[in-house]
Amino acid sequence: MKALLIFFVLMNLDKLLKPAHCAEIQDQVLSITPKTQEQVDILKNVSTQYETALWQPVSPHYIKEDTQVHLFVPANSSETVKDLLKRHAITHEVLLANPNELIEMQTRNDSTDPRSSSTFYERYHSLEDIYIWINRTQQDNPDTVKVILIGSSFEKRPLYVLKLSVNNRPNKKAMWIDCGIHAREWISPAFCLWFVQYSLSFYQSNKDITNILDNMDVYILPVLNPDGYHYTWTTNRMWRKNRSTNMSTKCIGVDLNRNFDANWCTEGASDQPCTEIYCGAFPESEPETQAVADFLRSHKDIVQIYFSIHSYSQMLLFPYSCTLEEAENHSELLEMVKEAAGQIHRYYRNIYKYGPGANTIYLAPGGSDDWAYKLGIKYSFTFELQDRGRYGFLLPPSHISDACNEALLAVKTIALKVVEKTQAPTTPA
Ligand code: ARG
Ligand code: ZN
Repeated sequence: MKALLIFFVLMNLDKLLKPAHCAEIQDQVLSITPKTQEQVDILKNVSTQYETALWQPVSPHYIKEDTQVHLFVPANSSETVKDLLKRHAITHEVLLANPNELIEMQTRNDSTDPRSSSTFYERYHSLEDIYIWINRTQQDNPDTVKVILIGSSFEKRPLYVLKLSVNNRPNKKAMWIDCGIHAREWISPAFCLWFVQYSLSFYQSNKDITNILDNMDVYILPVLNPDGYHYTWTTNRMWRKNRSTNMSTKCIGVDLNRNFDANWCTEGASDQPCTEIYCGAFPESEPETQAVADFLRSHKDIVQIYFSIHSYSQMLLFPYSCTLEEAENHSELLEMVKEAAGQIHRYYRNIYKYGPGANTIYLAPGGSDDWAYKLGIKYSFTFELQDRGRYGFLLPPSHISDACNEALLAVKTIALKVVEKTQAPTTPA
């Protein structure tokens, strides 16, 4: 009997040694809705004091009563954080019980698996693979695709823009799309790749993309923040900013979408290097920002439309985000995003909010869309792609095609409107 008992103990030693609630000790994403001001304050504290990553809102500053907070809690802080929530009677739901499994799904390379039916564009790709893809896309389409080096990142990675151009019409206008300004928003670079592939495949067969490409060139920057993107693949999946360092602080990174010269570093950005919305030392302090700004400045007379692609929350935004004032052509822009959102709903049954950034989400100065708008690009947009928090930044690869197709529909809807407006016969004076 005794021997049997010893045998049993030995067999289950691993289980007996681990804490009873071992199933809970792993990374998780929690959804927490504070109900009182006290709970708001506790949550703000939790998200700054502990080793957590705030998914939504972008900064603790915006945490408010009766609004969901999405918080990534790594295993080593799990117990402390949950105890704190419990002690203050703050209830939470587990949004993602096993984010690591989703991360594994997002990074798995199943291109060699014959059972996998997903295409290249229905998977996420490392920075290295994206560079290879850029090269190959140019080589395979020498007449339509040019690669332009517009600068390099803080860690000296090249910033390549693809130029799609199907003809050499004089006075041709252009559209700009950038992706991956925020490192962890992986669906964004996936969209840029998707857009290029779609354009190359369906020019001449889809009438809308044909009309658009006949009338304008497209400049596409697939990864605006390559250092950050690389870092999310190798080290920290939740990273948002670039990877620049500064003598005056040990904290790394500037929020590139707070670094443009549009009411720079006013309310909605932070001058604290350790925050997620750090605006940098001065406007365009970052090489990534400067490269984009320089390119757009030197092409401002031809670029008519500016798109910046983010995730998540499903929104079609236009200026301003840096002030509550209305843009000069507010009603025109509102009309466009309204129609785009309507199309998405009609074809994909999915809901996108729309409106000026500051009113629709929050004040966010120093953004690229506002800067481009002030430069004179009157059709300027920021899209927040899928989803609305089910998977957040960890959107599974199986959702890439829907997420990209609906965003593509919005881009096409808006671009067509602009083509139409520009082509409209001018009324005689
Ligand atoms: N969610 C993004 C951010 O926090 C975009 C917010 C809109 N701001 C803007 N400038 N478009 O940077
Ligand atoms: Zn973003």
